[in-house]
Amino acid sequence: MDKMVIEGGFPLVGEVSISGSKNASLPIIVSSIMFDGSDNEIDNVPDLEDIKTIKKLLISLGAEIKESGQADKLIINTSNINNYDAPYDLVKTMRASVLVLGPLLAKYKRARVSLPGGCAIGARPIDFHLNALKLLGATVEVDHGYVDVYADKLKGAVINFPIPSVTGTENVIMAATLAEGTTIIKNAAREPEIDDMITALNNGGAEIKRTEPAVIAINGVKKLKRLCHRVLPDRIEAGTFMAASAITKGDIFLKNINVSHLKSVIEKLSEAGARVIINSSSSMRVKGSKVIKSVDISTSPYPDFPTDMQAQMMALMTLSSGLCVISENVFENRFMHVAELIRLGANIKIRNNFAIVKGAKKLSGAEVMATDLRASASLVLAGLASSDGLTTVSRIYHLDRGYEKMEKKLADLGAIISRVKASDPLSAEAENPDFNDTACSKSA
Ligand code: EPZ
Repeated sequence: MDKMVIEGGFPLVGEVSISGSKNASLPIIVSSIMFDGSDNEIDNVPDLEDIKTIKKLLISLGAEIKESGQADKLIINTSNINNYDAPYDLVKTMRASVLVLGPLLAKYKRARVSLPGGCAIGARPIDFHLNALKLLGATVEVDHGYVDVYADKLKGAVINFPIPSVTGTENVIMAATLAEGTTIIKNAAREPEIDDMITALNNGGAEIKRTEPAVIAINGVKKLKRLCHRVLPDRIEAGTFMAASAITKGDIFLKNINVSHLKSVIEKLSEAGARVIINSSSSMRVKGSKVIKSVDISTSPYPDFPTDMQAQMMALMTLSSGLCVISENVFENRFMHVAELIRLGANIKIRNNFAIVKGAKKLSGAEVMATDLRASASLVLAGLASSDGLTTVSRIYHLDRGYEKMEKKLADLGAIISRVKASDPLSAEAENPDFNDTACSKSA
C-alpha cells in the first residue's frame, strides 16, 4: 500500500489548477441511469478512486462507459441496463454508491443496494433516504444487509428532512424526477454540488427548481433527453490548497475554482491571518502570514463552514499563536486525525465533539496513519509544515479517493513530497488492501 513521504518546512509558491468536484461528479454520473436514449457526456470529472468505483458500479448494472479521448470526460450509455443490484463489495468501499437508489427506482421502479455499513467518521445511516422514498410510494425492505426498494409507480409528495442530508437530497431529487406530479423537499441540503446536479438534470429535460434556499420543487416528467454537463470545481480541494498556503506561509494562485462557493473558508482563513486576494470569480491568490492567528471553527451544513474542511483547518491551528476550539457538528466521530496530529507535536484535547487546540511552536516529522479522506489531507498539510524530520503518511488510499494527483500538484508548488510503495511485503497492509483496523471499510 502506498505511503507519502514529506520533507516539510518549505513555503508552497506557484499556481495550482483545481479539478472537478468529486461530490458533484458522483450524483451526476449515477443520474445518467435515467437518460437511456443516447451517449451521455460528463466533463471535468476528476481522476479519483471514488470515480473509478462508481464507474465499476455502473458497468455492473449494464451501462457502457466509452473512451472519450479526454482524461476528464466520461461518455456513458445506459440503454442496456439490466441489473438493479449494487453489491456489498462495491458499496463497502464507497458509501456514495447508495446514490443509485434514486435513479434506478425512478427509471426501473426497483433497486437492491447493500447497506453502506459503518465508517470512521460516523454511523452515517440512510434512514432519511429510505423514509423519503417510502413517501414517494416505494416499498422498502431491509434484510441480510441489503435494502430492496420497488414501486408500481412513484407519486410526488412533500418530503421534510429532519436535518439537511446532501446525498439524501440528491437521491430524492433523482427519484422524483420521473415521478407523477410534484415533489417538494423541505430542509433540503444547500451544498452547491446539489445545484450542479439540478442544472445537469434540467439541461437534460427535468423540471427542478430551488424555490427557497432550503426548498426544492421537482415536477415529474415522462422522459429525459440527454445528459451533457461540465462538473463544477471542487471547493474542498480548493480549500485544502488554500490551507496549504496558509500553513506553509506560502503564496499560491488557485485557478479553475468557484470563489462564491468558498465564502466561509475565505472568511476563516482571513481571520487566521492569511491574505486572500480575489482575482476573478474563478481564481484567487492566498498568501500565508508569519503569525497564524487562532480562530474558533464550528462546522455546519452549507453555506456555513464545511465539515470536509475541519481536519485541514485543525492542522493549521496546531501552529497558531494561541488557543482555539473546533466543534464538529455534522458527524459524530470526525476527530480521527487528532491522535495522528499529536504524533507530529500538536497540542489537542478532545471533549465530546469539541477539540481544544493550543498552538505549538513547531511540528516535527513522524510516521502517521491516514484514517479517512479529509484526515489524510490534514496529515499531509501538517507534514508540509513540520520543520524537522520526515513525515510518512501511510494508508494514503484514503487520500486517493478524493484528491487528484495530489503529490504532483504539491511538488509543482515546491513541496518535497514523494509517493512510495509500502516497503515491508509481509506487512498486513501491503498484502491486503482491505486490511484496516478502523471502523470504516474505506468509505466516506
Ligand atoms: C455528503 O455525505 C458528502 N459526500 C460528504 O463528503 C460530506 O461530509 C457530507 O455530505 C456533509 O457535507 C458526498 O457528497 C458523496 P449527509 P452524506 O447525509 O450525504 C446524518 C467527503 O469528504 N444522516 O449530509 O453521506 C449523517 O449521519 C465526504 O467528500 C442521517 O442520520 O452526508 C450526518 O450526521 C465525507 N440519516 C448528517 O446527517 C440519513 O439518512 C449529514 O450527513 C442521512 C444522513
